[in-house]
Amino acid sequence: MRREGPAALQYSVTEGLPRLREWIATRLRSRYGIACGADDVLMMSGSQQALDLIGKILLDPGDLVAVENPTYLGAIQAFDAYEARYLTVATDDGGIVPEALEAELARAPRRPKFLYLVPNFQNPTGRTIGAERREAVVRICEARGLMIVEDDPYGELCFDGTCPRPLASYDSAAPILYCGTGSKIVAPGLRLGWLVARNPALRERIVPAKQSVDLHSGTLAQYLFHEFVSQGGRFEAHVARIREVYRQRRDAMLAALREHMPACVRYAVPRGGMFFWLAIEAAIDTEELFAAAARERVIFVPGRAFYANRDRGNELRLNFSNSQPEAIAAGIERLGRAVTTLTFGS
Ligand SMILES: Cc1ncc(COP(=O)(O)O)c(C=O)c1O
Repeated sequence: MRREGPAALQYSVTEGLPRLREWIATRLRSRYGIACGADDVLMMSGSQQALDLIGKILLDPGDLVAVENPTYLGAIQAFDAYEARYLTVATDDGGIVPEALEAELARAPRRPKFLYLVPNFQNPTGRTIGAERREAVVRICEARGLMIVEDDPYGELCFDGTCPRPLASYDSAAPILYCGTGSKIVAPGLRLGWLVARNPALRERIVPAKQSVDLHSGTLAQYLFHEFVSQGGRFEAHVARIREVYRQRRDAMLAALREHMPACVRYAVPRGGMFFWLAIEAAIDTEELFAAAARERVIFVPGRAFYANRDRGNELRLNFSNSQPEAIAAGIERLGRAVTTLTFGS
């Protein structure tokens, strides 16, 4: 504040603080191979705003959006606001199934406006799409001229090694928009995310759309964010620390799930991010389980909300990033009790 003076509290440009856009572009180029410059980066009030603005400029009522099934609830909410319809594409433990994408696109009554994907440690499933599938998805979309919206809030939170390179790093004749955020690596309350749009015609539509909503993202937040991330060593040490803390919490949840869940509960082990996705292979609706678990003083997100057509109810999302290992162990024990009681009776 002392260094920046009144500028940190003033109106600013819609596109965002130039030095912060430069830092983001440099990081995306050097670490992730996304060929972009500062001009391609637009600062957003969280990546949630990017999803809303994409919906705002691209969707007319009744337009199709292709999505992984299940997918991020906030994206469904953002696109619902523009009266989208969904082309839901099957997923498995390796994320979106390219053959299913191909088949759905061939069957669709019209081409979707875009394909929305969360390729790393997806919210809600924790799944990551492998390199081969990424390439296949890019090529399928390129062949059909289908835009991809790649939403990547969790890629930095990889517990072992690194994630496969982003879809946006592939050469493709069809546009690939890339959304990132400071929420999972610095602080969600700053409300800072970014949209990388290398297509000038798209940027020319996004910028006035954002201007009409909030003029620009908070100036003070952008200065603070830049100050924090641009001192390389400190930021890298911080990200390394949260990776380690979250890894320990993932391990605590895994150990507790192994101990307390009955055999009808299936899950894969996420290699990063914040979530476990549990499927209960019994005649249980997890909305019903939610009430039983709440009585045990433990809560989760029932899975139905993550299905664009709200048509599956036997799954649930657990978050492990936001609790201490002891609390995780106690919570999973209680949840295990609620599942067992509901499945087999007390
Ligand atoms: C997949 C995904 N996209 C976007 C967001 C929105 O994040 P923010 O608006 O805080 O950047 C979230 C938040 O949980 C998310 O999980």
